[in-house]
Amino acid sequence: MLSNLRRVSQGVWRNARAIQTSAVQRHDSLFVHRDSPEDNPDIPFEFNAENKKRAEAIIAIYPDGHTRGAMIPLLDLAQRQNGGWLPISGMHHVADLLKLPRMRVYEVATFYTMFIRKPIGKYHVQVCTTTPCWLRGSTEILDCVKSKLGINVGETTPDKMFTISEVECLGACVNAPMIQVNDNYYEDLSIKDTEEILDKLKKGEQPKPGPRNGRFAAEPLGELTSLKEEPKGPGFGVQAGL
Ligand code: FES
Repeated sequence: MLSNLRRVSQGVWRNARAIQTSAVQRHDSLFVHRDSPEDNPDIPFEFNAENKKRAEAIIAIYPDGHTRGAMIPLLDLAQRQNGGWLPISGMHHVADLLKLPRMRVYEVATFYTMFIRKPIGKYHVQVCTTTPCWLRGSTEILDCVKSKLGINVGETTPDKMFTISEVECLGACVNAPMIQVNDNYYEDLSIKDTEEILDKLKKGEQPKPGPRNGRFAAEPLGELTSLKEEPKGPGFGVQAGL
């Protein structure tokens, strides 16, 4: 311990041992609002006629005094109406509808990463790089997406068609590696599959979502390896005395 101390002045010693830290990783989205020409409170926002009806139906689900529970679905509706990202005026509109202080809406909209706080491409390509996907080749998938689209994570193509995000587990680890494009999951991907998906989207076609290796969902690829016997009936393994 003494070996770490350095005398900086008469009678004053300081611990000179270096502190080991890991690299700082930052999310690729900005969660702090800054007024910009495309996102400021002076830009009017309100639900269109169709979404107004949807909003009323959503709010009606919640009992009096608890309509704030409708906040997330309403923010999602605002985001969808606004081309996939949530403007500050949309948050204000939701706050007004639910008669809530705007701060309550800011708190929610900036907490959940599903709310996108800046303009985004028509197709939001989210590449999962958490451990199961990483072990199954997500680094190569991400490299493929970046080189195919010519942009980096957090960027949008100049034609405003694609935005890439690197995301944490999307809950489809059994079908790793996978990407999400808007509302669709593409799973069990190879580089070739990823290229084909992006090519189709570029041509305005809709690639078929789901696994790409012949699976229907998350069942085993070959034969069943477990749960092959008839399930035992109720009470199986319980002591006779019970
Ligand atoms: S780790 Fe990629 S979906 Fe779970």
